[in-house]
Formats: sequence, C-alpha cells, structure tokens
Amino acid sequence: MPSVHLSNALAQDLLGQAILAPSSHNTQPWRFRLSASAIDLLADRRRALPVNDPDDRELTISCGCALMNLRIAAARRELGTHTTLLPEAADPGWLARVALVPGADVPADQAALAEAIPRRHSCRHPF
Ligand SMILES: Cc1cc2nc3c(=O)[nH]c(=O)nc-3n(C[C@H](O)[C@H](O)[C@H](O)COP(=O)(O)O)c2cc1C
Repeated sequence: MPSVHLSNALAQDLLGQAILAPSSHNTQPWRFRLSASAIDLLADRRRALPVNDPDDRELTISCGCALMNLRIAAARRELGTHTTLLPEAADPGWLARVALVPGADVPADQAALAEAIPRRHSCRHPF
C-alpha cells in the first residue's frame, strides 16, 4: 500500500484538528505516536476516571471522537486513511493505527465535516 510521508507540518495540522474532539469531562484522554507514514492513537489512562467511568467506556468513546477528527482532517487534505483498530492484542491501550493513503477515495461528506471541527462545541443550553 503506498503511503504519505508524515512531515512535521502535516502531523501538526492533523493532530491540531484531532485534539479539538469532545471528551468525557474534557479529560482529553488521548496520546499520539508518530511514525514515518502513520499516526498511532493511544489511550492515556492517566486521565481515566475510574469512579465515573470504571470500564473506560467514555474514555474509549472520547478517543474515538479524536480518531474521527483525525480522519476528517486528512480527508480535508484529500488524504485517505486506512485505520486498524486495536492493532496489537497484547497492548489494549494502543487503540488504532491510522495510515495515510494517497489517492484513496475520500468521501465528500468527510471533507465537508472538516469545517465543523473548529466550530463544534458542547451545547450547555437547557433542553
Ligand atoms: C463520551 C462523552 C461523554 C460526555 N458526557 C457528557 C455529559 O454527561 N454531560 C455533558 O454536559 N457533557 C458531556 N460530554 C461533553 C464534554 O463535557 C465536552 O466534550 C468537553 O467538556 C469539551 O467541551 P467541548 O465539547 O465544548 O469541546 C461528553 C463527551 C463525551 C465524548
């Protein structure tokens, strides 16, 4: 599979969008590890809330939100992504590997969502 070189500028752009994701109690429980052509998403369990979220369910959903933002940010740059969930069974904290794939089909709806990333925020108004 062809890959994209992950320059510092590209990584900063993509991660800058990823970390605008919502997260449970704003814990932002994610970490990223970079390699030449892929971004690994890891759970940051130092930010877990064991009383409120004993099974790390909300922590994992929060990381999923960051993963979605990352893929949308790539789509905005017309970069496809190939995502492997839980790439290493022995390491459950390693949630995903996202490889950037040049020339892959980028769904139009994903690229369109990119505009919402910096504008999105939780609604605190009464329902
Ligand atoms: C898994 C998950 C659970 C959440 N649960 C609540 C909740 O119960 N009540 C609430 O007001 N906000 C909830 N939020 C929203 C977060 O509090 C919010 O994303 C965070 O404070 C960051 O603010 P922002 O969304 O405006 O960027 C949740 C978010 C996630 C991802």
